[in-house]
Amino acid sequence: MAHYQAMGDIPPKRHTQHRRPARGGRTGELYYEELMGEEGFSSDSSLLYHRNIPSTVVGAREWSIGDLSTTPNHPLVPRHLRLHDLFAPKDVKNTDVVTGRRLVLGNGDVRISYAVAGAPSPWYRNGVGDECVYVERGRARVETVFGGFDVAEGDYVIIPRATTHRWIPRRSTKDPLRAYAIEANSHIAPPKRYLSKYGQLLEHAPYCERDLRGPEGPLLAEDVGARADEESEVYIKHRGNGPGGIVGTVHTLPFHPLDVVGWDGCLYPYVFNVRDFEPITGRVHQPPPVHQVFEGWNFVICNFVPRKVDYHPLSIPVPYYHSNVDSDEIMFYVDGDYEARKGSGIGKGSISVHPGGHAHGPQPGASEASIGVEYFDELAVMVDTFRPLELGEGGRAVDDGAYAWSWGRPRA
Ligand SMILES: [Fe+2]
Repeated sequence: MAHYQAMGDIPPKRHTQHRRPARGGRTGELYYEELMGEEGFSSDSSLLYHRNIPSTVVGAREWSIGDLSTTPNHPLVPRHLRLHDLFAPKDVKNTDVVTGRRLVLGNGDVRISYAVAGAPSPWYRNGVGDECVYVERGRARVETVFGGFDVAEGDYVIIPRATTHRWIPRRSTKDPLRAYAIEANSHIAPPKRYLSKYGQLLEHAPYCERDLRGPEGPLLAEDVGARADEESEVYIKHRGNGPGGIVGTVHTLPFHPLDVVGWDGCLYPYVFNVRDFEPITGRVHQPPPVHQVFEGWNFVICNFVPRKVDYHPLSIPVPYYHSNVDSDEIMFYVDGDYEARKGSGIGKGSISVHPGGHAHGPQPGASEASIGVEYFDELAVMVDTFRPLELGEGGRAVDDGAYAWSWGRPRA
């Protein structure tokens, strides 16, 4: 994020002495300044002031992060994955958003996982890349070293690489916490074309700075009912020789991770709610880039929100058939009725996989049926990747095996 924020106790000048309050006539101890920055001091950064030396670690062990193996989409077919079948209700109580997420799809740039969680996660940081976690249903408290967030349905939670944090589901009267995790191997940010040369969101962008929520902080151990000197563990996902080039380690710290008394800068977690996305509409069908919300290296994130649809007198509101020759297109159907997919079996909680190398578009009859429709009540989150996606164990487990034949009957 290019927008400067300052929070808590920071010195007036960077890289200068910053101390705890003096006590009994004695000078307070120094806080420990940490610069957390991207691209080797050449991009956005923040300065964090810790009570403890941030490099302290008193133990390290392997964290077995689960099955991150992937299987190519071969033979090449479009697929329908039923995400809501991934977790049985009895499993939710003991599942957390971090260690319980199951890999649905992945490639060398991005992984899409899913969790239905009722348990608090351990302290965690992703050393591989930024995370964008979309809250499909339910509520949670997300505690980070920058501060906390209350998150709920429709929130995209953007967590920069190496941010120590944890997820604590809140009991909801309606739904458990359903989290759709998009993990990059890179950074995730608003599309460059939405930004001025200095990083402000431009007038044509479908959202602006007012729609982004920064953390509430600072957040210290005592604010969450813990002791500052409480020994703790942090689960770290990092680069290594496991499937997807990823492995895990657990570090033991001799203190609580929430020890940042203040910070400032342009790098921090933030939240954007999909309901604040202002759709761009037209007389004829608008292409998916108007629905884009974020981008990472070699992939984009778009959302299709409830909106007035095409109003040319001869318009066809559902999309034309399209062959995105350079990308795989992954649609996660969150809410409403998705007009183009009527009759395909796709519903809330479904994912469609439309791979590059194969044209896709509305189900038979959907184009004709959409004529005259003025409003689409639909909500979907789309990830388009430039490298082909492979199926993770979660994706393989809930593939309906029939979607490919929903435009024509399969040969026996
Ligand atoms: Fe498409």
